[in-house]
Amino acid sequence: MSKNTRNLSARQQGDKALFAELSKTAQQGGSLSAEQLHVLARERRISVATLLGTSSFYDFLNTFKHGKQGYVCNGTSCLMAGKRNAAEQSLLRHCSRQEIGEATCLGHCFHGGAYWFGEQTFDIKSDPQNISKQPRIPFYNAAQQSLFTDSISDLASFYQDSLLDPDIILKKLADSRLRGRGGAGFHFADKLAACAAAPAGQKVIVCNADEGDPGAFSDRYLLEVQPQRVLAGMLAAAHGVGADSAYLYIRAEYPYALQCMREAITAFEQTPAYATSGVQFYIIRGAGAYICGEETALLNSIEGLRPEVRTRPPYPTQYGLYGQPTVLSNVETFAAVPWILQHGGMAFASIGTTQSTGTKLLSLDHSFKRPGVHEVELGVPLQQVINEYGGGFHSAVKAIQIGGPLGCVVPLNNVTDLSLDFESFAQQGFQLGHAGMIGIPQDFPMIDFLRHLFSFMAHESCGKCVPCRLGTRKGSDLLMAATKDTPIDRETFDDLLDALEFGSLCGLGGGLPLPVRNILQYFNAELTDYFRQGTGR
Ligand SMILES: Cc1cc2nc3c(=O)[nH]c(=O)nc-3n(C[C@H](O)[C@H](O)[C@H](O)COP(=O)(O)O)c2cc1C
Ligand code: SF4
Repeated sequence: MSKNTRNLSARQQGDKALFAELSKTAQQGGSLSAEQLHVLARERRISVATLLGTSSFYDFLNTFKHGKQGYVCNGTSCLMAGKRNAAEQSLLRHCSRQEIGEATCLGHCFHGGAYWFGEQTFDIKSDPQNISKQPRIPFYNAAQQSLFTDSISDLASFYQDSLLDPDIILKKLADSRLRGRGGAGFHFADKLAACAAAPAGQKVIVCNADEGDPGAFSDRYLLEVQPQRVLAGMLAAAHGVGADSAYLYIRAEYPYALQCMREAITAFEQTPAYATSGVQFYIIRGAGAYICGEETALLNSIEGLRPEVRTRPPYPTQYGLYGQPTVLSNVETFAAVPWILQHGGMAFASIGTTQSTGTKLLSLDHSFKRPGVHEVELGVPLQQVINEYGGGFHSAVKAIQIGGPLGCVVPLNNVTDLSLDFESFAQQGFQLGHAGMIGIPQDFPMIDFLRHLFSFMAHESCGKCVPCRLGTRKGSDLLMAATKDTPIDRETFDDLLDALEFGSLCGLGGGLPLPVRNILQYFNAELTDYFRQGTGR
């Protein structure tokens, strides 16, 4: 997109932005109708084709999906629980089969089996007619020093007491060595420093609350239970770099989180501290596209473009939202900031390990005896997390998916080799990611797990680069067609994984091979009939 066009589209921000309007219109009838699309195109003076280019990308804006009233969760944890049919049966009490769509993970993995109806999400045991409040996500603190136990009840006082000189904010955050909690583990202070050093002008803060990874619901917990803490972290970051706008991109699948954050912003806007802060908050509701969690796709999404990944450099800290220097970070990263400002960066750095400082929120799914969000100190043995904090498993589990579909798959036998930190996982050929955990039952076939992974990625690939656009589809087709009589040529499959890893533009195509290779390595015996070894090409 040219800089001029980008500058023009920046004129209509917040509620008036194209994406916000598409989302609002679609909300009324479950995705957009063709008529609504034409009306919007006329009003906005853009071609229907351009608008369709954007809207057709999203599950909840796509005209082919118009009229859906309820959605069954098709996330990994619900698949492992075998509860999709039960969720559909629950929905059929409220709408017809044609009105039921699918949503990718509603963040109810602690229940196993969930659906979305009437702007609320439910687990299969609850009945919308008898529920007035969203059920709370269980929270357990296992860290000696918890960052998230107390809520910040008064954001205005926090703002007045804790927001010091920008240099002091940046110094405290540098001392903390806080690493981003969204998966890649990038040092937060480095991002702030780069944005602060960018030429003066409008700068932007963006909180990535897209939490699309099936099995993760810790961001959802923070948004619903600690909204002021998230806003306080964003305000501090804005103050540190001199930003005057702060965006929260929250996935549509979290209607209650959207409501909680809206209420928290409205409450803050009514205080005198809001005026002095000079920061304008915007909430952007996602529309059902996993790739929008990727930072540059997210920026394009807010701008109303088809959310394809941008090439880097330039990085968002140089050229981010509407081309302005932008700090984009995860919910939990921002939520850690207030504690650091109140207690000091060194105090934070004394928790955890030298390179992975602080605590981490873990999402443990329904396969654990104590499912929910657990706050743990980074560096604790994984064994302790599973058996002590999580209480072990309800029934036999053979592996754990950790960090979502782009994280890793750890066989139960390898658990004793790992501690919960970025380095330990990387050294053993795994990846911590956001560290949410899903138990893979003993009797769940690994070939089906591979099929699930590939078909999810084929559906969610943004299509910008060839290795991922074609590779995820090809991999999915190969796996779907594989039988013991017609196995996949292993050499071809390995080539496909190499092409994805080395040729992809972003972490979706590039990250998929790692969990797939974990499975191929550790569950070779179970998969051997589905792969034919080395016949060459
Ligand atoms: C396919 C894909 C999906 C992602 N989804 C999320 C997400 O839902 N939430 C998130 O914070 N980061 C997600 N990320 C990582 C972001 O691109 C980015 O690194 C992160 O938001 C930066 O925040 P942090 O530094 O606080 O971790 C995703 C990355 C990829 C490649
Ligand atoms: S790797 Fe996949 S999701 Fe990422 S840019 Fe390429 S096509 Fe898009």
